[in-house]
Amino acid sequence: MRRTDLFNDGWTFAQGFTEAAKTTVMTGESVRLPHNAVDLPFNYFDETCYQRAFTYQKILAWQPDFQDREVSIVFDGAMADAQVFVNGTAVVAHQDGFTPFEARLTPHLKAGDNLITVKIDGSENPDIPPFGGRIDYLTYAGIYRDAWLKLTTPVSISSIKIETQETLADAKGVSVRVDLANPGDDAIEGRLTVELKDGDRVIASQSQVVTGTRSTVQFKGLEGLGLWDLDTPQLYSAEVHLETAGGIDNIASHFGFRTAEFTVDGFKLNGKALKILGLNRHQAWPYSGYAMGKRAQERDAEILKHDLKCNLVRTSHYPQSPWFLDHCDRIGLLVFEEIPGWQHIGDKAWQAQSVRNVERMITRDWNHPSIILWGVRINESQDNHDFYAETNRVARATDPTRQTGGVRFITDSEFLEDVFTMNDFYLGSEEMPGANHSRTPLRDQQVCTGLPSKVPYIVTEYNGHMYPTKRHDQEQRQAEHVTRHLQVLNAMYGERSTSGAIGWCAFDYNTHKDFGSGDRICHHGVMDMFREPKFAAFAYASQCEADDEVILKPVTFWARGERNIGGVVPLIVLTNCDEVEFVYGDHIRKRAGPDRETYPHLPHPPVIFDRRHFSAEELGNWGMAWLDGEMIGYRNGREVERVKFAGGPVPTRLDVVADDDTLPAATKDQVRVIVRALDQVGNLLPFLDEPVHVAVSGAAKLLGPSTSVLTGGATGFWLESTGETGAIEVTVTSPRFETRHLTLSAV
Ligand code: GAL
Repeated sequence: MRRTDLFNDGWTFAQGFTEAAKTTVMTGESVRLPHNAVDLPFNYFDETCYQRAFTYQKILAWQPDFQDREVSIVFDGAMADAQVFVNGTAVVAHQDGFTPFEARLTPHLKAGDNLITVKIDGSENPDIPPFGGRIDYLTYAGIYRDAWLKLTTPVSISSIKIETQETLADAKGVSVRVDLANPGDDAIEGRLTVELKDGDRVIASQSQVVTGTRSTVQFKGLEGLGLWDLDTPQLYSAEVHLETAGGIDNIASHFGFRTAEFTVDGFKLNGKALKILGLNRHQAWPYSGYAMGKRAQERDAEILKHDLKCNLVRTSHYPQSPWFLDHCDRIGLLVFEEIPGWQHIGDKAWQAQSVRNVERMITRDWNHPSIILWGVRINESQDNHDFYAETNRVARATDPTRQTGGVRFITDSEFLEDVFTMNDFYLGSEEMPGANHSRTPLRDQQVCTGLPSKVPYIVTEYNGHMYPTKRHDQEQRQAEHVTRHLQVLNAMYGERSTSGAIGWCAFDYNTHKDFGSGDRICHHGVMDMFREPKFAAFAYASQCEADDEVILKPVTFWARGERNIGGVVPLIVLTNCDEVEFVYGDHIRKRAGPDRETYPHLPHPPVIFDRRHFSAEELGNWGMAWLDGEMIGYRNGREVERVKFAGGPVPTRLDVVADDDTLPAATKDQVRVIVRALDQVGNLLPFLDEPVHVAVSGAAKLLGPSTSVLTGGATGFWLESTGETGAIEVTVTSPRFETRHLTLSAV
């Protein structure tokens, strides 16, 4: 049987790279993967600090198990230019920071110790996509995903591709295409067995003789199986065994039965219309960049699905972590995945790399039911007929089951894909110098496509740099931020031919000096970099059904003088309740329902309290007392939720919340902890910029500074496993609050 062991521990990491490192053990720091070559401060840093070479080394002692087997190391991802040497011999080079590569060790291994050296060059090498121009994100250097030691029989399974047929029928089909690797050029003679399973239960099994490097096993008439859907993301697995003279090799992959189609009448999942409500995601975190483990990756998918209530994520602008995609499969979150790139197209060699990236992305990910669209253009590049004809050709040849898209922001661009994927940043452009149009959330698709009729169409970005908003920005700006997201969503829901809209973006992200607010952050997220929500997060969350979760989020810090002129109206209450009561002090009570007049197409328009509900004097003017308030949410006339506001908020409690109470010890992984300064009724104190000291002892280390400040009333950090098991003690102190203790355990 195949052995696939994590190969993450026991690496030595050193700055720079010298020829000597190919054959000599260097002194350096002992590290575990996933690893970030240079940890960054939260903001204001020099992003060129990691754009250079680094060395990773590891000793692999000969094991009796290696005898007569193929031995390789699989790297899930390393940024950006990787070369692997075994005992001084170069075995593989990989110039793509986002896809896996394999270093075949077999012919180079010797008895005793073997020296594995990996040169990582984090430079923004213009020969490697996405580099060559400017890009609005960072590509943090390092072996930032997992590495695996893989032992197989001499002839082994290199990949399996699972396709479903008659997917919506009662009797379904599955084909499993199996490709073999035969590096020693042995005669291929063996038997292939494919088992389809539902958990541990075998649904169907077939065996056949193999004599070449490619075989397909076909199943038909499979009954009683469920569909992969958003609420019931039913997964099955295919387990493949190959028996040859060298022994048995095996591989498995999960898959699901679903159809996904973008049509001129919108998107259809399993034949049923579904409006796509999505957000873009960068796979980046504060401090350690891309180098976050399985749990942290999964958590992001959960935030998108369960907190933001999105049904799709776009992996802008590159293939993301396999752990993230696996979890999207598991929880039912659709994915639009795309190749690395940002506006710039390089020369022919660069384009050839990019075409290879299409193939690498698809062959890595074709079994994920969550993925419904391949992005085969360099995000927001100009047209380039030959290049994009080729990326589309390769995508369709590699995976005929999925449509292609290619994100552009230019209008009238040549439509070579199956789906016209458009970044429509029109909202806000009416304020640009020289503009002579009025405010419009989205343009008609034909204005963007320039085509004579409607085509499958989706809006892949909006807002973002048109209205950067920090979590602690003034309330009025946040209300406008919320309004812009709502206006686009309303327009999207109202246009039958638009498949959906994917906002820019889920989380704030670190970026180059040429973008963002000068602090090396694009404050474009509906959540900040700690994944703490801005009000705009609830524009998305409130579109869910109240049976899933009742959302009641008034867009206010509740103060007399935070807004220009004062007061809190017009007050947007993001909610899926059918009525909200506004209570001010003990004398004013007003009820209002969703504002369908302004947002006729939203599943759940916000309730907006404004001059329609209050006379100018009712809430008083500057110089009058400011009172406590309450918002009460009703469904079918019954109270279902209540939010209180203190007229005079005072620091009362420091809330310290970990996403999990356990942390996996065996692998390098992280759990997020959020620290919130709360008032007497449990609301954030948005302007309490007090220091926070964090001390961590036991089986984890602190990721982030031990002293930070509350920003917008909150801050965060991560606990990272060290390999030890046992208790993790966390102490959080801040001068205005009682000290908080948290105990987790590394298991
Ligand atoms: C788009 C781009 C994104 C991001 C965004 C900011 O043009 O595709 O990566 O830069 O603008 O709004």
